[in-house]
Amino acid sequence: MSAVILSGKVYAEKLKAEAKVKLDALVAKTGIKPGLTVIIVGEDPASQVYVRNKHRTCEEMGINSQVVNLPQDISKEELIANIEKLNNDTAVHGILLQLPLPKALQQYESEILYKIIPEKDVDGFHPVNVGKLSIGEKCMVPCTPLGCIKMLELAGIDIDGKNAVVIGRSNIVGKPMANLLLARNATVTVCHSHTKNLAQIAASADILIAAVGRPEFVTADMVKEGAAVIDVGINRIAPKKLVGDVDFASVSEKAGFITPVPGGVGLLTIAMLMQNTVEAAQAQLI
Ligand code: GUN
Repeated sequence: MSAVILSGKVYAEKLKAEAKVKLDALVAKTGIKPGLTVIIVGEDPASQVYVRNKHRTCEEMGINSQVVNLPQDISKEELIANIEKLNNDTAVHGILLQLPLPKALQQYESEILYKIIPEKDVDGFHPVNVGKLSIGEKCMVPCTPLGCIKMLELAGIDIDGKNAVVIGRSNIVGKPMANLLLARNATVTVCHSHTKNLAQIAASADILIAAVGRPEFVTADMVKEGAAVIDVGINRIAPKKLVGDVDFASVSEKAGFITPVPGGVGLLTIAMLMQNTVEAAQAQLI
């Protein structure tokens, strides 16, 4: 049997519509539009595309969007000074530092990111937000795993009591994903490069999240019949060919639900960034 395909486009539109309702209520109450500033350092072409998409979505939604372009050779101190200026700007409710940083700054990535105050940290990367997520308190949650959870919920896929397996333990996806699933009463296993019997563990999952960064890593033998398979990977295997971490052709014959790549959870990330920006503004203004 073929899996139901969970379209990122359909769910992203629903989530943006939800954020728009909150945004309109906030503007009606305060007369102030939420503001998001994205900082991009250097000329990385993929990052420029991502930043343009974020800017365009803000404009469509009615969020004030500012993009700060900084030169490749900026010093750590100057970059931090830019962040601190935005921390103190009351018209800016959300700040996002686009990653990856240029090579010379990568060793300082955490130090720089943590200068964004937790209230404006729409990426949910600050340790205060990471800590709050792990103890189940309200906080800014990283956009990609939050988008995955919202998609499961909107698709009517029950999480409570289910076996969820997350492949990948990154700070941006794997770990927050595990915490979000745990908070919804799933039994959660996190697999990674040192995991023994990974295929067998994955095949026990009712909900399988692939966030491993390896093209078509998850094959049909690693998937339980009828499982919900969420593919967070985006891997370029040829100039014009993107694939996920899941072998879509074989897994879609076995899973109950599957997300495509492209056109899957990637689109939800921006929708959740809009939602986080509105929520950050709400918390700062009301
Ligand atoms: N680059 C790729 N994905 C992300 C993300 O989620 N946040 C930031 N800040 N940079 C990224």
